[in-house]
Amino acid sequence: MKTGISASMMCADFMDMRKDIRAMEAAGIEYLHFDIMDGSFVPNYALGVCMIEQVRRETNLPLDIHLMVERPDLKTGYFPFREGDTVSVHAESTVHLQRLLQSLGKEGIHPGIAMNPATPVEVLEYVLDVADFVLVMTVNPGFAGQVIVEETLRKIENVRSYLDKRGYRDTVIQVDGNVSFENARRMKAAGAGNFVAGSAGLFRTDMTLPEAIKKLRDAIQ
Ligand code: DX5
Ligand code: ZN
Repeated sequence: MKTGISASMMCADFMDMRKDIRAMEAAGIEYLHFDIMDGSFVPNYALGVCMIEQVRRETNLPLDIHLMVERPDLKTGYFPFREGDTVSVHAESTVHLQRLLQSLGKEGIHPGIAMNPATPVEVLEYVLDVADFVLVMTVNPGFAGQVIVEETLRKIENVRSYLDKRGYRDTVIQVDGNVSFENARRMKAAGAGNFVAGSAGLFRTDMTLPEAIKKLRDAIQ
């Protein structure tokens, strides 16, 4: 996974998404982030296959697909993934985590392990060889607009040193949830490299999208 910004499209303007996509392209955003929610792994429903297919026709930006679904191992076949995309799978959502990450990697996709705030770092122990990045959730997944779980800042530090000690220095930590300008700075200091920006740091600020992207880039320098 590239370091930088991943724009959380569930916070975009659904009535005028083309405009938002053009702004992301102009600003050279690294990824468009798609939250896939099944109403079961998380209590909410969000984006899905049809939207991804439409966005694919509209832009060549790589997609960053965050699967918040039960049994993702049974569902990834339905998604139009493309080489260069990143796909994160929750460690809590399947007992076949290693197999799923490995098979995604074979398709040229960059697989990531997503972890809820309560999930211990040790879940990474036997799957780092087949993962390109680790997604540390900084809120409980399911809804945009939540407040950061403060303990997750310490968790980012712990994951970073866990990875470094085992020789996985290139494994990027992505953070998702309440990535405001101020929190982004703190997450960066703790060791995060890729920032999912939703309502807090991109779409619901008092700035235009280009202004917010610039401010967020300054925060994660
Ligand atoms: C939360 C989602 C996020 C969300 C983040 O479950 O995974 O991608 O959109 O956005 P904010 O900034 O609203 O927390
Ligand atoms: Zn997400």
